[in-house]
Amino acid sequence: MGRGKWTAHFALIVLFRINLALANWMYLGMLGASMPSEGPKNYDIPRSDEPANYGTSICSSVPGLVTKQKNVCEEQPSSMNAVIVGIRRGILECQQQFQSERWNCTPEGDDNVFGYTLTRGSRETAFIHGILSAGVVHGLTEACSAGNLTMCSCDRSQEGLSTPEGWKWGGCSDNVQFATMFARHFVDAPEKESRKSSRKRDVRDMMNLHNNNAGRLAISRYMQRKCRCHGVSGSCELKTCWKKLPSFVEVGNYLKRKYDESVLISLKPRKRLRRRGKRKVPVRKDDLVYINKSPNYCIEDPANGIFGTSGRLCNKTSTGPDGCNLLCCGRGYNTQVVTHVNRCHCKFHWCCYVTCRKCTTELEIYTCK
Ligand SMILES: *[C@@H]1O[C@H](CO)[C@@H](O)[C@H](O)[C@H]1NC(C)=O
Ligand SMILES: *[C@@H]1O[C@H](CO)[C@@H](O)[C@H](O)[C@H]1NC(C)=O
Repeated sequence: MGRGKWTAHFALIVLFRINLALANWMYLGMLGASMPSEGPKNYDIPRSDEPANYGTSICSSVPGLVTKQKNVCEEQPSSMNAVIVGIRRGILECQQQFQSERWNCTPEGDDNVFGYTLTRGSRETAFIHGILSAGVVHGLTEACSAGNLTMCSCDRSQEGLSTPEGWKWGGCSDNVQFATMFARHFVDAPEKESRKSSRKRDVRDMMNLHNNNAGRLAISRYMQRKCRCHGVSGSCELKTCWKKLPSFVEVGNYLKRKYDESVLISLKPRKRLRRRGKRKVPVRKDDLVYINKSPNYCIEDPANGIFGTSGRLCNKTSTGPDGCNLLCCGRGYNTQVVTHVNRCHCKFHWCCYVTCRKCTTELEIYTCK
């Protein structure tokens, strides 16, 4: 067993010492994450494009999968690799999008991924559902096009058809419809099961389902058309086009805007979601929706999965959310001078070596009190 594998297994064992009640499918994204070096804040989540090959053994060992998800996992183990890659991509993009905000999408310690934030029903809950759900569609679509899954391949349904503009569909279009359908089946399963069995969590379930769907829609919305010209020396006598997945950063930027504009909703049992306050304005399918206001995330509160901003790096001159004033919640900041030693003034000597000098630069860094 290679060292990497061993680390992954070690991480599995440790991470599984968890609160099962809070675990869910998102936990798949933490497989292979190595333990934090210091404190609970530094999970090293594998880059999303690192291969994930856990086989069917994960289907029963991952806590928090509901029956339908376990079935999908057992029937389509190769799809799970794509799901895992997609969830990781979602988590990493979430951290990228929120890196300079008070809530910065940090996994919440040993016992769950985002369990506290998920139970909160806040706009952060909404974002997590949206971005991870989008990640799953993205990962699956890619795997379909790469020919890695037996159940799907490129979308060739339009191949050869001409359009009014005079070009033809051709090549391998990314099969976002299939991935969307599959992702819905997998990702929405817990809320659908819980809605069947009890009416109590109806509002929360509807909120999650809505946001999962908004995440999936974000992928279709940004599908691109790529074209290639054929003909004598690039004259575009014949143009063939295909549909291509957006980069995930684009999806992340879009969902972050949706987070900024997310909609506070309420719901009468078994009725539709409604905006709180401005009831005349309908809730759109692509809106992220939430039911509870967020805490300010300023003060550490382990019982609620809040890390606080003490110790976070801030920017003294920025007036944005990363500025020391906002990020540190008015508590002030510490200044530290760190010295970087770099190689500099390098010279190449014939032949063949390089000499450099050492330069030191001093940098002030600011951390919240
Ligand atoms: C497809 O499978 C190969 C081999 O396992 C892997 O290297 C590649 O990353 C996969 N691609 C996608 C998009 O899943
Ligand atoms: C701090 O914020 C200012 C103003 O927004 C920006 O120009 C600068 O690059 C930032 N510094 C760092 C270290 O991010």
